[in-house]
Amino acid sequence: MWVSDDGKAAVYLAASAGFCFGVHRAVDTVYDQIKEGKPPICTYGPIIHNEMVVADLKRHGVVEIDDEAQLSGIREGTVVIRSHGVPERIYEQIRGQGLKLVDATCPYVKKIHQIVKEKSAEGFQIVIIGNAHHPEVEGIMGWCSSPAIVIGTEEEAQKLVESGIQKPLCVVSQTTFNLKKFHKLVEIITQLRYHESAILNTICNATEERQTEADAIAQIADAMIVIGGRNSSNTQKLVDICRKECESTFFVQTFDDLNLRLVPSRGIVGISAGASTPNNIIEEVSKQCRKTILLNRC
Ligand code: F3S
Repeated sequence: MWVSDDGKAAVYLAASAGFCFGVHRAVDTVYDQIKEGKPPICTYGPIIHNEMVVADLKRHGVVEIDDEAQLSGIREGTVVIRSHGVPERIYEQIRGQGLKLVDATCPYVKKIHQIVKEKSAEGFQIVIIGNAHHPEVEGIMGWCSSPAIVIGTEEEAQKLVESGIQKPLCVVSQTTFNLKKFHKLVEIITQLRYHESAILNTICNATEERQTEADAIAQIADAMIVIGGRNSSNTQKLVDICRKECESTFFVQTFDDLNLRLVPSRGIVGISAGASTPNNIIEEVSKQCRKTILLNRC
């Protein structure tokens, strides 16, 4: 935390802001492949939800594959699987086409793949708490031997309870799901008490820590700045969490999106950032805020 000389303004940067371990690993993996110098190098989907990083990789010749149809057209080279993971059939397709597979799936996501694969084979109904259209959830679904149910709202959880489902449930979560919401949905699902259920909180610590810290800062802040990619779901969740506590929450991709005139020049300005936000962008926002709010206050 940086405080102005008169003690009337402060900028508080969350310690947990920025790349998580899994994203770091995935981005490093692609740059390592570039260094190896054996093109063409493709990533299955953008390696992270950050336009700046993706653009830099493109400048280095990295090609993004968006779906299975596009993958079918790749005849040579390396395919890197991003931290979100992919369905099992994509591994088979990459290998079947004789391509080199480099797996940068985050180990925490990989663990969920193993759980749902085993539990669905044992006859459990897999329930994924998360967003059905998020690539991580699509990937998890692709490791289940029978169709998974995805729920993201209390209404959907209630519907599941009312469906009279008879199979034992195995409940897992998207790694970046909101922790409080996860507990709420589990509370509803566990009304199905007669079932032998396995409830597994697979929200990763990095997400939990980031959300808890952003929540705590937002509670005392007069304005919050959340930095992250437009398509980053974990950043969007941070924005939602912060907005609940602090009305003046600004969602920016880079410093250029931030209108500092809207940020109060007194009180506390908190800064947090999603798991796919590079450090240089966080540093730039933090530096400019300190310069403007702490040094040039009127
Ligand atoms: Fe992995 Fe958690 Fe990041 S699951 S990709 S370390 S948010």
